[in-house]
Amino acid sequence: MAKNRVSIAIMGLGNVGKNFLSILDRQSSLISDRTECEFIIAAASDSRHSVLYRNGIQPGELLDLKSGGDISTKGQPLRAGETFASSFHVLVDMSTASPDGKRERDVYVDSMETGKDIVTANKSPLANHWSDIMDCSRQQGKSVLFEATVAGGVPLFSLLKYSCGPSRLVRFRGIVSLTANFVLRKMGEGLTFERAVRMAQELGIAETNYTDDTGGVDAARKTVILANALFGLNLRLAEFKFQGITSSAATEDSSRLITEIVSEPDGTKVFSGIRKLDAGDFLASFGEMSLGYEVETEFSGKLRISSVSDGPVETAAAVVNDLMLLAGQKFQGKPGNPVRI
Ligand SMILES: NC(=O)c1ccc[n+]([C@@H]2O[C@H](COP(=O)([O-])OP(=O)(O)OC[C@H]3O[C@@H](n4cnc5c(N)ncnc54)[C@H](OP(=O)(O)O)[C@@H]3O)[C@@H](O)[C@H]2O)c1
Repeated sequence: MAKNRVSIAIMGLGNVGKNFLSILDRQSSLISDRTECEFIIAAASDSRHSVLYRNGIQPGELLDLKSGGDISTKGQPLRAGETFASSFHVLVDMSTASPDGKRERDVYVDSMETGKDIVTANKSPLANHWSDIMDCSRQQGKSVLFEATVAGGVPLFSLLKYSCGPSRLVRFRGIVSLTANFVLRKMGEGLTFERAVRMAQELGIAETNYTDDTGGVDAARKTVILANALFGLNLRLAEFKFQGITSSAATEDSSRLITEIVSEPDGTKVFSGIRKLDAGDFLASFGEMSLGYEVETEFSGKLRISSVSDGPVETAAAVVNDLMLLAGQKFQGKPGNPVRI
């Protein structure tokens, strides 16, 4: 059967972006069989270049270009001020989170207004500009999928949306930030903050600039997205008070940086900060590379979901899964969807 050709523009080719390309490359037959779609990379950008590939570029070839240090040696580099205005179907954002999310919001809004759907792993635009982005999505009839923004590869938004449809959530509690909790655990075991951060960097789970993680911003962004997506709030990061790691926070090795959101009669309470966990607490059972959460639902009971290990591979797999879901919703069974690069 003829496959639909779905063209994508990729922003960000770092740890997550490169794993995304590897998965597209290695799993191309499976992905194509399951979605009835063939994905064509029509454009890509990193911090230095934005490039159009008029005839498409294979994921493996783009990976090779990125490894060589310059993705513009093939394709047509955009000039300063030019955007990906050309035709593609889906924007996939795996770029560095900007502090205020404005750069990404503007790209998303432009993209949706010109007919594109969005898949993102980047928390900042959603945590800072949720209503702008979701209003535009509704007005334009375009999708914004963001499974990878919270708890890496642990199924969360799709699972709850597609499996707990008739229920509202009563409570959410989770450990959704790997790096901060790794550092906290090591401090609880007696390491200094600096040594704990260095260990996290050696393991590749902390960025060179780790302060978003240890300062609690990364977890707060995720908490804002959770509160908005799961509890129907309209929070913005700027108006949300949160905690990060302080040297006194981890005198107990049971201290963790957690997210807690509870629906109460007088409103929804949202927390992102340090809590000392009891030994019997589900969140206390996680390993140092685990992420997960428990939710209380109206009719589907209390659910507990966690990963044994998480990182950029699992996050990239969640991005690919969103792309596949989108393809299923928008393109499957609708042949004749030409790629216009
Ligand atoms: N790592 C994880 O496990 C994980 C989990 C969940 C969510 N996320 C989110 O996913 C995104 C990517 O994470 P990562 O670990 O892959 O980060 P990363 O390794 O630092 O890669 C970031 C990529 O974004 C590119 N970039 C920077 N500014 C850009 C711009 N203005 N336009 C286009 N691209 C730009 C960088 O370009 P250069 O290559 O030129 O530097 C790099 O390729 C982040 O928003 C992160 O918060 C990551």
